[in-house]
Amino acid sequence: MYNFIFQNTTKIYFGENRLGHLGEELKQYGTRVLLTYGGGSIKKIGLYDKVTEELKRAGLTVFELSGIEPNPRHTTVNKGAELCKKEKIDVLLAVGGGSTIDCTKAIAAATFYDGDSWDLVTHKAPVSKALPVLTVLTLAATGSEMDAGGVISNMDTNEKYGLIHPLLQPKVSFLDPTNTYSVSAFQTACGSADILSHIFDVTYFTATEKMDMVDRIMEDIIKTVIKYAPIAVKEPENYQARANLMWAASWALNGFLQTGAFQAASCHAMEHELSAFYDITHGLGLAILTPRWMEYILDESTAPQFKKFGVNVFGVDASLSDIDGAKQAIVCLNDFLFKTLGLQSTLTEIGIDDKNFKVMAKKACKGDVLKGFKHLTPEDVENIFKMCL
Ligand code: NZQ
Ligand code: ZN
Repeated sequence: MYNFIFQNTTKIYFGENRLGHLGEELKQYGTRVLLTYGGGSIKKIGLYDKVTEELKRAGLTVFELSGIEPNPRHTTVNKGAELCKKEKIDVLLAVGGGSTIDCTKAIAAATFYDGDSWDLVTHKAPVSKALPVLTVLTLAATGSEMDAGGVISNMDTNEKYGLIHPLLQPKVSFLDPTNTYSVSAFQTACGSADILSHIFDVTYFTATEKMDMVDRIMEDIIKTVIKYAPIAVKEPENYQARANLMWAASWALNGFLQTGAFQAASCHAMEHELSAFYDITHGLGLAILTPRWMEYILDESTAPQFKKFGVNVFGVDASLSDIDGAKQAIVCLNDFLFKTLGLQSTLTEIGIDDKNFKVMAKKACKGDVLKGFKHLTPEDVENIFKMCL
């Protein structure tokens, strides 16, 4: 088991009608606020009006950056950082999903850097300082509302990388499940696949020893997603379903489940290549990749964990052999993602062919092997991409 430090400092307001606390929380960091959001969903659901009303009531001076893209771009980060410098912003308020929150975190750091924000993402320059970030979450998926990372894309170079730094941990996040009622069935399914993948990737499926307590909690969170995602897809305004998915998303990646074991996010590294080249929805890429990755690495060493997953989560027959139990677990996961949640199951269906697989595989491995439950060579990664066609 690995030694670890666990610290998570984000203050959470969970539930309905908590925005009355927004002004007092922001004012702890200053009076000049940059409100950031995406393509307008927050206006459609009336959240923009509620937030701006609160900011006005608190007497704050508000600037805005809208149009943050899903898979947010470094160019948008640069734009936001310029605005922060020009308007002497004290604090950032991100209202949206993972993309808006990630972009806002990068803006927070880029405000204190004079070059291109991409330098921070590629570690050419270190994060030295960051503006405080508060969030109002509208989509249960990434965990960005309660973690210190953000993922930024550079579409000129087809690169997508994480920027992780303790200074980027949100100070406060408002989690109101009713703000996710309007999330489409597709985005709900993709978000749920992302939550599951965070647990699988870091660190439910691992070659290293795990802490049993954490392992059991991971299975409970997986079961929670499997129970409530189909309900949220069918009944978008089911509070219980939306609340469970929201809290599951935050806990899947807030550091707690990552304690004690080696972290290596193979499926995430492969998916980031897909979205860097084809701008696809992150959770969809993960859904397509994960069962193929399991199939590809299935052998005597991985089978016991895959079987255990099948038995404990899907009720697969415990008397099956490890290999047969593992195969059954993969079938159950396939059925859940593609039949129950209705996600597309192949890259071909979403218009992706094998043209860039070789270069994507090489990039995913970063000149080495892609570490994980089983270490993967570029050739392995290319084979997994091909299995997804
Ligand atoms: O842009 P708007 O208009 O807000 O619409 C968004 C977007 O089109 C919409 N949406 C969000 N909330 C909604 C809503 N539509 C209706 N009602 C609502 N309440 O949903 C679409 C997708 O939004 P996005 O923010 O892109 O989704 P998600 O939260 O899944 O974030 C994905 C991004 O996060 C990164 C991904 O790579 C991707 O770039 N990740 C971030 C991580 C982190 N910070 O720790 C870890 C993850 O593994 C992931 O890589
Ligand atoms: Zn993810």
